[in-house]
Amino acid sequence: MSVDFQSWSSAHLSRFETVLGDLLPPGDVAPQRLHQAMRYAVLDGGKRVRPLLAFAAAELVGAELSRAQYAAASVELIHAYSLVHDDMPCMDDDVLRRGKPTCHVQYDEATALLVGDSLQTLAFQLLAEHRLSDDPQRQLEMIKLLALASGSRGMAGGQAIDLASVGKSLSVPELEFMHIHKTGALIRAAILLGAHCGNATAAQFSRLDHFGKCVGLAFQVVDDVLDAEADTVTLGKTAGKDADNDKPTYVTLLGVQAARSMAQQLHQDALDSLVEFGGAAQRLRELADFIVLRKY
Ligand code: IPE
Ligand code: IPE
Ligand code: MG
Ligand code: MG
Ligand code: MG
Repeated sequence: MSVDFQSWSSAHLSRFETVLGDLLPPGDVAPQRLHQAMRYAVLDGGKRVRPLLAFAAAELVGAELSRAQYAAASVELIHAYSLVHDDMPCMDDDVLRRGKPTCHVQYDEATALLVGDSLQTLAFQLLAEHRLSDDPQRQLEMIKLLALASGSRGMAGGQAIDLASVGKSLSVPELEFMHIHKTGALIRAAILLGAHCGNATAAQFSRLDHFGKCVGLAFQVVDDVLDAEADTVTLGKTAGKDADNDKPTYVTLLGVQAARSMAQQLHQDALDSLVEFGGAAQRLRELADFIVLRKY
């Protein structure tokens, strides 16, 4: 690898911020308030883990960045929408996100609802209007993949289980099912969409799929641990919110130590699934390390 991970991710992130800024409707175009709120929810914040995973997977299979950027943006838009809705009073009722007031606090609830709606449709618009694959059939598969990962069989379904689980003690398989859906599905989709921009073989897809499942679940296990252990300033969102809201998490179910070791096990499984890629998967390895070792 010619550049280190830090330089690679900084270069992607600064470029990607411009891409997102250009893809979002300008704030001075009607309806201004909605467009400004969309920009507020998406720009200038977040770790951008999903786009980085999409870029790393795309590079692994030799995809052009000019295509992968739309795959990365589509997933980040869905993710940003999920955060806006997740923070609303009818869901987690949170006031801080990415170090700023949440969208419904800064604007209002109706606007936050519409921001989510609009970011979601913009995501699918991007996948439909830009050429992402030489094979139109493959591009249709990509649209379907994001739809499944976002809807009731993916993120939104996981969020429904999350809300229905308040005050309950889930079994480990039930908790895993919830986490795989609410968070894992979109992370897996980021990796697969990046790979779809190139010409990955079936064998490569299946390895990337396994990697995506492992890091996707690990991501939420670590999120649960950080909610219990980190502070609000570091997180940029309210710490201790899961306990306040009486949510079952890996921490409430297993304790911090066991949750951490579960994340480590998933980390190892994720790395194992990359072995056959050799050095070409270095960025994905580094992202798996970041996901599990992060402090925010
Ligand atoms: C937070 O996701 C919500 C979860 C799915 C756990 P991130 O931790 O990726 O949030 P940002 O994008 O960095 O703000
Ligand atoms: C949210 O999980 C998952 C989403 C689909 C947004 P959390 O409710 O734990 O996310 P945070 O901790 O508020 O970021
Ligand atoms: Mg939530
Ligand atoms: Mg939340
Ligand atoms: Mg959380």
